[in-house]
Amino acid sequence: MSSWEEQDEAYIWHPFTPLKGMDQPLLIKKAEGVYLFTESDQKIIDAISSWWVNIHGHSHPYIAEVIHNQAKILEHVIFAGFTHKPAITLAKRLLEILPDNQSKVFFSDNGSTAVEVAIKMAFQYFHNQGIEKKRIIAIDGAYHGDTFGAMSVGERGPFSEPFNSYLFDVDFVDFPTPDREEEVWNHFQTLIQTGEVAAFIFEPIVQGASGMRVYSKALLDKMIGLTQEYNAICIADEVMTGFGRLGTLFAADQLSNTPDIFCLSKGLTAGTMAMGVTTCTAEIQSAYRSSDLMKTFFHGHSFTANPITCAVANASLDLLLTEECESNRQRLNQRHTDFLERIKGHDMVRNPRVMGTIIAFELNTERETSYFNEARHHLYPYFISKGLLIRPLGNVIYLIPPYIISDEDLEFIYSTILTFLDEYQSMSFQSID
Ligand SMILES: Cc1ncc(COP(=O)(O)O)c(C=O)c1O
Repeated sequence: MSSWEEQDEAYIWHPFTPLKGMDQPLLIKKAEGVYLFTESDQKIIDAISSWWVNIHGHSHPYIAEVIHNQAKILEHVIFAGFTHKPAITLAKRLLEILPDNQSKVFFSDNGSTAVEVAIKMAFQYFHNQGIEKKRIIAIDGAYHGDTFGAMSVGERGPFSEPFNSYLFDVDFVDFPTPDREEEVWNHFQTLIQTGEVAAFIFEPIVQGASGMRVYSKALLDKMIGLTQEYNAICIADEVMTGFGRLGTLFAADQLSNTPDIFCLSKGLTAGTMAMGVTTCTAEIQSAYRSSDLMKTFFHGHSFTANPITCAVANASLDLLLTEECESNRQRLNQRHTDFLERIKGHDMVRNPRVMGTIIAFELNTERETSYFNEARHHLYPYFISKGLLIRPLGNVIYLIPPYIISDEDLEFIYSTILTFLDEYQSMSFQSID
């Protein structure tokens, strides 16, 4: 019998993983709180919440119990023509915490499908009314997922290159760095004023995958306001920012204008099971209320609103809405802010920033900031060898830990990063290019 690692290589194709030149994936046998345990008993702190999903820690006993209980009662049922209490409860509770204009919940499977649903919902809203609006605006550098619609509204770069000719047309405005805000605003106005725009989609306040890039709330507010003035739909992709990541429950809570559609996933189920949700206003749904069958929203997935997953999301909300969780988020924000003070003058650190429970900075490498900056290939194994799961985006090092992480573990992460920064200049990283 070959080793588990050999069997993995024989049978599995891992996501976002080059097939040559990469180390074998680590075999994880169990996880608890912020810790992952390898087969050989190495303890690794999950400082990125396993792709930003885990908010309350791994293998949470309360969530495990809820899964067990729900699985004994109703594990799954088709969600067309049937419904169930875990889904109804979840929808009601989500609408209670989302901005007041949100009125309906549509379930799907992950962040990408939440975005697909949002885009289709917006386009068909106009189609059902016989209104010709076909354009969509997005922000350069955006990441909205890996399915075709989500890819279309995302950054056109090396990842999308094999597919670019199959993606639909999107009007991109440049990422609004502080020095370009006016230019971006002018371009945005020109696009909206054509009256042809159906929707504007954005990651509110922070663009995650492009390197935890923060942009102006005030500008975003203006963009949402203008979009709505021209009867176009604003889609907030809160897949990463939702459920407390930026301090407030949703990023939109920090804006004065409210988006029309929200896309949620990741923290929705505390990173335990896969689920996406798209919520919308009553006005958007009203365009689908018709005796004309062709106005139906013909979209659905086999596992839509899976009862176990809904029960998990309800359990995650129970934990999220406690005072303890809120004070953990504030504590995390404070610790990150203190750490920012410690690194901000460091020669190897560029542009440090804290957004709620996230801290990010760029490593001062000679090559420009990008996912393909080779620094990433050295940083990842370095941190793993120290017992830390940190997965830099190019030369952007960021932390997005579960909210329950202790001060001691945070201090271990911070001091490991500081040691790394001090050692960095003397390390001879070979380019893998
Ligand atoms: C803002 C945003 N939208 C959508 C997605 C896609 O989510 P998923 O990976 O669950 O398809 C991601 C994933 O990182 C994301 O960060």
